[in-house]
Amino acid sequence: MASDLVRAGDPTLVFTEHEKRFLLVPQPGRRFHCHIGIIEHNDLIGKAWGTEGMAHGGESYLVLRPALEDLMLHLKRATQVIYPKDAALLVQRLGIRSGSVVLEAGTGSGVMTTALAWAVAPHGRVVTCEQNEAMYQQAQRNLERTGLVRWVDARLGYLAECVLDQPADAALLDMREPWRVLGIVRSLVQPGSVVAAFLPTTNQVSQQVRSLEETGCADLKVEEVLVRRYKPVPDRLRPEDQMTAHTGYVVSGRLVDTGHEPLRWLSRERRRYASRQEATLRYRQRKAEQASGEVRPRGRRPLP
Ligand SMILES: C[S@@+](CC[C@H](N)C(=O)[O-])C[C@H]1O[C@@H](n2cnc3c(N)ncnc32)[C@H](O)[C@@H]1O
Repeated sequence: MASDLVRAGDPTLVFTEHEKRFLLVPQPGRRFHCHIGIIEHNDLIGKAWGTEGMAHGGESYLVLRPALEDLMLHLKRATQVIYPKDAALLVQRLGIRSGSVVLEAGTGSGVMTTALAWAVAPHGRVVTCEQNEAMYQQAQRNLERTGLVRWVDARLGYLAECVLDQPADAALLDMREPWRVLGIVRSLVQPGSVVAAFLPTTNQVSQQVRSLEETGCADLKVEEVLVRRYKPVPDRLRPEDQMTAHTGYVVSGRLVDTGHEPLRWLSRERRRYASRQEATLRYRQRKAEQASGEVRPRGRRPLP
């Protein structure tokens, strides 16, 4: 059970009057220097969560349990990372919860790994692969700061080299060309599992959707998350002037065996488009045959 008091090693959010947030992992004897002065780690250890402390500069701060968003936003970034708003939808789409085994590639800075570990703890596991050693090391350091590292099995290497002792319940791909690894992912997850990808550009999305269709996929979704924050002033409630316009797209679907009918489990819209394409093709073929004299135009009788 979580303690009521901050313990050494607990990720701790220090929230200042200027709404600055610092993520500290208190260790006896350490000090943290910031714009409000010095914060002694010893002053944090043993303090009740949600109470006020005072920096040596005389300014006060709140000692708060970090939310997932606080952990994700305070990790060191060595790569492009997935933002909390997108992570929320991804966790939802992957359908993971405590006890799930989720496969991830690539680990990058470990920011999304943090969200996955948060979702599957305390009975599940994240198996995450990273091909680049510097990224792998950075992710390890980050994950140690979050206190979630024990639910992460981090592997240095390509996803293609990954071996699992049991099939995963879901897979998340945050890499440039996720369509190249769909065959491997299929061999590493339970049939019917969700595979989700996070992609910054629409042309990557089209490629991923095409490849998912070819791999055999059901319940395919392409989504984007936009969050509009408001200035929380009751008498003058209005949106903030600026917002993050674009991060990326979430493409998800369930890997299933579609036999000889790859489109069978796709959306009605997609199947309708395929039938229209087929009809157009048939029409063009007929026209070509008519032009070459192979068939008579439809509806006209030959003159007697
Ligand atoms: C955009 S970053 C991932 C960021 C991560 N989701 C986060 O939130 O911190 C993409 C990472 O995928 C890694 N990568 C690309 N292809 C890979 C593969 N086939 N196997 C393992 N890692 C791969 C890259 O080295 C890079 O670090």
